[in-house]
Amino acid sequence: LFFPIEEGDNPHKELILSLPKETRWQPYVLRLYEGFWWWEGIIPGIIGIQQRFKARPNDVFIISFPKSGTTWLKALTFSTMNRHKYSFTNHPLLRLSPHDCIRFLELIYCQGEESYAESLTSPRLLCCHTPYSCLPDSMTTSECRIVYICRDPKDVLVSAWYMDKNYIPDAPLSFNQAFEVFCDGRSGAGPIWDHVLQYWNESLRRPDKILFLNYEEMISEPHQNLRKLAEFIRCPFSEEEEKTGVIEQIIELCSFNKLKELDVNKKGEGFSNIENELFFRKGVVGDWKNNMTLEMAERLDEITREKLHGSGLTF
Ligand code: A3P
Repeated sequence: LFFPIEEGDNPHKELILSLPKETRWQPYVLRLYEGFWWWEGIIPGIIGIQQRFKARPNDVFIISFPKSGTTWLKALTFSTMNRHKYSFTNHPLLRLSPHDCIRFLELIYCQGEESYAESLTSPRLLCCHTPYSCLPDSMTTSECRIVYICRDPKDVLVSAWYMDKNYIPDAPLSFNQAFEVFCDGRSGAGPIWDHVLQYWNESLRRPDKILFLNYEEMISEPHQNLRKLAEFIRCPFSEEEEKTGVIEQIIELCSFNKLKELDVNKKGEGFSNIENELFFRKGVVGDWKNNMTLEMAERLDEITREKLHGSGLTF
């Protein structure tokens, strides 16, 4: 899915091969589709969503720029929404990866599994990395809810680079090269600033439909953020639940250390044969300090400040 589509017989092949191309984030080929850079093989999935996906009013979507904490937000949302269905001692998250519990729409559509999305009972929980401007009308105009998570671009870059380095160990991409491409906004799903800003602006315009979360704040204030999330997806915690520690149980179940140590996340393999363990690397704020020079950090921060200027959003 993440690799070139030249050999296959994809119906959108001609269109995709005519799009502007970026090959510096090796070994991938990225194409510019509607203002964002995508792994070639994923674009048919986005087109599929645009042309055929119909959101239902009570759907909940988890949306993010890749490597911003999607896996964590999937686990938290899944366990919050289904807390009356499963006990914490025999929970699906103890056996399944968060990516098995909530699947990516782009991949569902790439793999011709649209009937899977249709067959889910409401309220559906789905996920994507698609930018706001590329979503189908049904997702932007219906009563459905979108939960978006963002993260400091410096940590996003570091996380993305390690992910690819570990996924394809012989990938020749150096961190310095990745840094340049990321600063140019040409990493997968980039530019990150446009992605984040679109959802930020829309969350200000329609706060009842889009909840904008931040990885760093979720790390420092997990309880407050989980309460916010539960209210937003229309299943707030009751006083009784507050008293009996349900919030703490969900936070514990979804914590980095808990998930990372589970067999399924240590040994299992998920979509596109990506080992589940690659989604659980360090799970901290500020790992950029161990991977880039202060000059690099200042340069990336400056770009971020410039791009977000006037929006009210800062990192
Ligand atoms: P690092 O590579 O910095 O460790 P995504 O899920 O969007 O791909 O993002 C992956 C990042 O989220 C990785 O960051 C990963 O370690 C971190 N992560 C995964 N599960 C987490 C959890 N339960 N709590 C906090 N961070 C988590």
